[in-house]
Amino acid sequence: MEISTRSGFLVALFLWSSLFQFDGILGEDFLRFVPLVTKEGRRTIVSTESGMITAVDVYERYHGPYGPYHLQFITLDTSSLLLPVILHADMVFYVHSGRGTINSITEDGTNRIDVKRGDIYRLEEGSIFYVRSHPDSAREKLRIHAIFNTILDENASGAFVGAYSNISDFIRGFDDEVLQMAFGVSEEVIHGIKAAEKSPPIVHFEPKNETDEVDWREGIFEALIGGRHAIGIVNAKKKKEQKTKALNLFERKADVENCNGWSIAVTSKEFKPFKGSNIGVFLVNLTKGSMMGPHWNPKATEIAIVTHGQGIVQVVCPGNPSGVSNEAPKCENTKFKVNEGDVFIVPRYHPMAQISFNNDSFVFVGFSTVAGQNHPQFLAGKRSVLRVLDRKILGVSFNTANTTIDQLLDSQVESVMFECTSCAEQLEREIEEEMERKKQEEARKREQEEEARKREEEEQRKREEEEARKGEEEQRKREEEEVRKREEEEARKREEEERRKEEEEEQRKREEEEARKGEEEQRKREEEEVRKREEEEARKREEERKREEEEARKREEEEARKREEEEARAREEEERRKREEEEARRREEEEQRREEEEEQRRREEEEARRREEEEQRRREEEQERRRGEEETRREEEEEEARRKEEEGRRREEKEEARRHEEEQEEEARRREEEVRRQEEAIRREEEEDELEADG
Ligand SMILES: *[C@@H]1O[C@H](CO)[C@@H](O)[C@H](O)[C@H]1NC(C)=O
Ligand SMILES: *[C@@H]1O[C@H](CO)[C@@H](O)[C@H](O)[C@H]1NC(C)=O
Ligand SMILES: *[C@@H]1O[C@H](CO)[C@@H](O)[C@H](O)[C@H]1NC(C)=O
Ligand SMILES: *[C@@H]1O[C@H](CO)[C@@H](O)[C@H](O)[C@H]1NC(C)=O
Ligand SMILES: *[C@@H]1O[C@H](CO)[C@@H](O)[C@H](O)[C@H]1NC(C)=O
Ligand SMILES: *[C@@H]1O[C@H](CO)[C@@H](O)[C@H](O)[C@H]1NC(C)=O
Repeated sequence: MEISTRSGFLVALFLWSSLFQFDGILGEDFLRFVPLVTKEGRRTIVSTESGMITAVDVYERYHGPYGPYHLQFITLDTSSLLLPVILHADMVFYVHSGRGTINSITEDGTNRIDVKRGDIYRLEEGSIFYVRSHPDSAREKLRIHAIFNTILDENASGAFVGAYSNISDFIRGFDDEVLQMAFGVSEEVIHGIKAAEKSPPIVHFEPKNETDEVDWREGIFEALIGGRHAIGIVNAKKKKEQKTKALNLFERKADVENCNGWSIAVTSKEFKPFKGSNIGVFLVNLTKGSMMGPHWNPKATEIAIVTHGQGIVQVVCPGNPSGVSNEAPKCENTKFKVNEGDVFIVPRYHPMAQISFNNDSFVFVGFSTVAGQNHPQFLAGKRSVLRVLDRKILGVSFNTANTTIDQLLDSQVESVMFECTSCAEQLEREIEEEMERKKQEEARKREQEEEARKREEEEQRKREEEEARKGEEEQRKREEEEVRKREEEEARKREEEERRKEEEEEQRKREEEEARKGEEEQRKREEEEVRKREEEEARKREEERKREEEEARKREEEEARKREEEEARAREEEERRKREEEEARRREEEEQRREEEEEQRRREEEEARRREEEEQRRREEEQERRRGEEETRREEEEEEARRKEEEGRRREEKEEARRHEEEQEEEARRREEEVRRQEEAIRREEEEDELEADG
């Protein structure tokens, strides 16, 4: 029985993992989730002589500075008072022990709740409340476990202002005038309030008369604000005070009850004050050696506080969200032992099982944050969700024979709570073993690391030694090598030196040769140059000479030309002169000729005339002789006269010719003068031309 249950339980958990994958519902907000907060892990908020308040912030999968759920553990000694505070969040509480009174003031009026162990109640956000513990010193301390739903507050202003705030601070914060006006009291009252020493949150409080409720309350306010007037409460007081009853979990019929334990859950449906709240309360009492069967909440996260005993809680992770960085804590299957005062959180969809030890019962009260209608789903027993599934499919899912599945589902009748003797012990052992294993593993790991480190060091050392050795070896080799190389180098150098010398020798020879050749060439070149220069000079000289000759020639030519020109001109002149002389002579000759011709003609005419005259005269002589000889002498006289006349005429003619000749000479001289003038003009022109050419 025990074995089958256990195996069924484990298989069921395995099944869970294989059946569902819940990527997305967890998200990275899940990272803040911590499944267990031990009693030692609580923060202390208030600690006075009369009581203390500790707190735990739990994360479901939301994040924020305080988390969405704030838990407070308020402990009041007998005859103590938690001074009024203003609630910032819905508060659901469970009275773990003791007795007391909780007074709350809301818009609807005042409300007084007498509370005792097992009571649950809810105070709405915005209400003012204060708590008084029972004065009976024989009684237990008043212990209240409260949860504050701070989700809204967290978002509202960006900063969480705490679950509640101090009312005296609230009032003291205002200016005197404001308070005076607001409360209609005298200045002294306000001063009295303000001057009063600030009270700690929890104070000792002894009512003057237990039955005198009015005095009792006035006493509170006196203690609170230092005056007898219960200001602010006055109006509320006028309204009818309600007396509400809390719900006591122990007085209610359990939802599930058998010899292995009982459990009860209260939601907003079942308890009127819870209405509008998303928080429910549950209580589980597992008797010795029992188990709260594997189950999960599809809509609720369970935040449980161990109120009695010890137990083992196993939580299965439905799967890790994908895309979460490796640094984030992993969602893992966990099992852990819880002690009284510890808080453990099981997020929705996480299958869980709680198991009690054989030697004690295991009681835990919890708050379930319900996001809707929640029905816990049990995996084993008659109520198992697995029974709904087809067994063949289950067989395939578990990869086992029909019979195993049948066994798994049919052996356990109970679903919620069943016997599980020594289960917790075994699990504890496993946990311890695991922890031991982990420790050992860690130790081993550390050792291994140490060893690895040592090995590493050793290796390092060896490597270094080796390297050193190698280094030395290499050094040696290098040195040898170097020596060898040096020797080689030297040999090489020597060779080179020799070669170099040879080369140098050769070079020298070559150079000498070349120098010689060079000199030869140089010499030749120089000679050549000299020769060339000489030639050049000769050439130049020749040219010079030629040029000079040329010039001389030119000059001569020029001179000759000029001379020739001169001569030509002279010749021309001469010729012209000759021509003119010739002309003159010719003209003279012509003249002469003409004169001679004239003379001739005249002589001929003279001749002719003389012949005629001769004739005439012969005829006349004849006649005359005939006429007589007397006439002869007259005639002779006449002849004589005519001859004289002729003589005169000839002289005249000669005179004429001489005059003419003179005229001719005059003419020739004039022409000569003309020629000379012309020559003069030509010479002037030439001179001008030369000047122009020079200019
Ligand atoms: C918180 O406020 C943001 C905007 O300021 C809003 O988008 C978001 O829904 C709010 N969350 C809750 C839980 O009210
Ligand atoms: C109220 O405020 C005062 C001063 O800040 C502080 O000493 C006291 O503890 C507070 N009381 C509560 C109940 O928080
Ligand atoms: C309280 O008041 C009642 C009557 O009102 C009286 O009988 C009783 O003695 C008083 N107790 C104390 C402690 O003063
Ligand atoms: C739990 O159950 C056991 C056995 O029935 C009982 O002795 C014990 O008082 C119960 N505890 C609470 C807190 O109810
Ligand atoms: C019950 O047993 C557990 C484990 O065996 C042990 O840790 C625990 O102290 C015991 N409780 C009591 C009350 O003996
Ligand atoms: C499994 O169960 C089915 C029906 O219940 C049956 O027909 C089949 O033979 C079974 N197989 C085995 C291996 O038992």
